[in-house]
Amino acid sequence: MANVELIEVDDAATLCRTAADLVIDVLDGLPEATVMPATGSTPMGTYEELAARAARGPFDASRLRVVQLDEYVGVDELDRRSLIGWLRRSFLRPLDVPDEQVVRLRGDGTDLALACRRYDEAVAEVGGLDLAILGLGPNGHLGFNEPPSDASSPTRVVELSPASIASNATYWGSPDAVPRRAMTAGMTVIGAARRTILVVSGSHKHDVLHRALEGEVTPEVPASFLQRQGGVVVIADRAAWR
Ligand code: GLP
Repeated sequence: MANVELIEVDDAATLCRTAADLVIDVLDGLPEATVMPATGSTPMGTYEELAARAARGPFDASRLRVVQLDEYVGVDELDRRSLIGWLRRSFLRPLDVPDEQVVRLRGDGTDLALACRRYDEAVAEVGGLDLAILGLGPNGHLGFNEPPSDASSPTRVVELSPASIASNATYWGSPDAVPRRAMTAGMTVIGAARRTILVVSGSHKHDVLHRALEGEVTPEVPASFLQRQGGVVVIADRAAWR
């Protein structure tokens, strides 16, 4: 875990405030920074906290460039369950970031390989990520980089694993309703972020968090590559770490 800074906090509420402090700290003096905010339940409180602070000032996120992390295949962007829809509701709208400042990962077209290429080009054009705010999948995935994914895994279409289908079922009503395919920013994109904040909450993440931070660096636990990356801070609550 030599390369990773771990901040242990008491509970999920403290995690949100601590993560928001750190995000603001990293973005201080970088009003046009490029940020990748994950969806998923863990970072939602952090985004609410950021929005509350933006409303009070002086934190202003409206000039940030935002890069989408992942998306289901074949789900219309106006569908509430699309990840771009979730990103708009949780991050873009509350923080006044216009859609034109978003690098999209589009899963609703016909040529998905082309969409992945366009995405990688667009990320390169903006100079990569200043900050990635990530959650930890129940099987150690980042975005939808399902095991096995190593550091060279590109932006691509993936088949969702049974663990990811199960953990996303709550958003879809049942496992059967969850799309079987998704698109994800490659480990290449995620791993090149200059700063990364990984937020992890709850006892159900305990084992996978320890494998990610203290276990062997292996494609079987994609998040374990964070150990080699540099600039990574993990904020975990006691239930997840102890
Ligand atoms: C999901 C998403 C990830 C997310 C992770 C953790 O499947 N693809 O982007 O970060 O799993 O989600 P949560 O924060 O809800 O535990």
